[in-house]
Amino acid sequence: MIDIAVIPVAGFGTRFLPLTKSQPKEMIGIVDKPVIHYIVEEAAKSGIKTIVFVTGRHKRAIEDYFDASPELEYHLEKQGKYKLLKIVREISNMIEPIYVRQKEAKGLGHAILMAKKVIGNRPFAVLLGDEIIEGNPPLLKTLINKFETYRAPILSTYEVPWEKVSSYGVISGKPLEEDKNLYLVEDLVEKPAINEAPSNLAIIGRYILTPEIFKYLEMIKPDKKGEYQLTDALKLLNRKDSIYAYKFEGLRFDTGNKLEYLKATLHFASKHPEIGEEFKSYLREFLEKENL
Ligand code: UTP
Repeated sequence: MIDIAVIPVAGFGTRFLPLTKSQPKEMIGIVDKPVIHYIVEEAAKSGIKTIVFVTGRHKRAIEDYFDASPELEYHLEKQGKYKLLKIVREISNMIEPIYVRQKEAKGLGHAILMAKKVIGNRPFAVLLGDEIIEGNPPLLKTLINKFETYRAPILSTYEVPWEKVSSYGVISGKPLEEDKNLYLVEDLVEKPAINEAPSNLAIIGRYILTPEIFKYLEMIKPDKKGEYQLTDALKLLNRKDSIYAYKFEGLRFDTGNKLEYLKATLHFASKHPEIGEEFKSYLREFLEKENL
């Protein structure tokens, strides 16, 4: 049973500068919740009890967000704002957080290696701290279920337009007869040129990994930018052990990217229980006024 996850949140978020100069990109708000809230919610709904956040300097806001806030709770209670009080309390009770540090942002592979001591010898989930994925059941839950059957690392992939493949790690593989959305991975390539990409199945931010990955994360060399890539460690692991990849077909927002962030905001605003209807009618007016 997988009940522990790693969420790396130590990156610089350069695609979102200057906003990320003094604010973690994982704490940027989508309507009334920071991005990281949506991600932790998915983990909790998938049965995760403990989350190892890999943090860095300037990321304290994340720790405060998942902590109790006695002064705020006292204030809300005194004012009789019980609905808000409940929301605030639920956040600090959602999961048990553990924080480890990545002293230098040396890539996703390096960030995950920082969780080795806490994870020890058990399988674990990874969720990227800036990718919101909407699936019913949650994508992570689906991956955990597949792991129970196949007992091997399970990646998640998403069909992206061919012209975008060079921004991702990409897999090649064959779908299983008995489970058409699950691929047995043959190879993995990090950020391939369009004419060298083996498919347009991009690896996205949810993984189930086994502790063997740490050995390979310690073996890999940094890429040209000095970053240690998780894909490179998975490639080495795949030479010895099977890896599967699940093809996800729901909604996904890489909120570290400005346009995707705006799409996520529109999506969640239009289905928000308080403001959704009004927002949609404003949006219609706006489109008409702007002749769009
Ligand atoms: P990204 O590659 O999207 O994050 O990593 P980044 O490097 O912060 O973004 P850009 O490209 O400069 O805009 C995905 C997740 O992995 C974390 C990030 O915080 C993000 O949640 N990460 C990335 C780390 O924890 N450490 C790293 O060294 C790199």
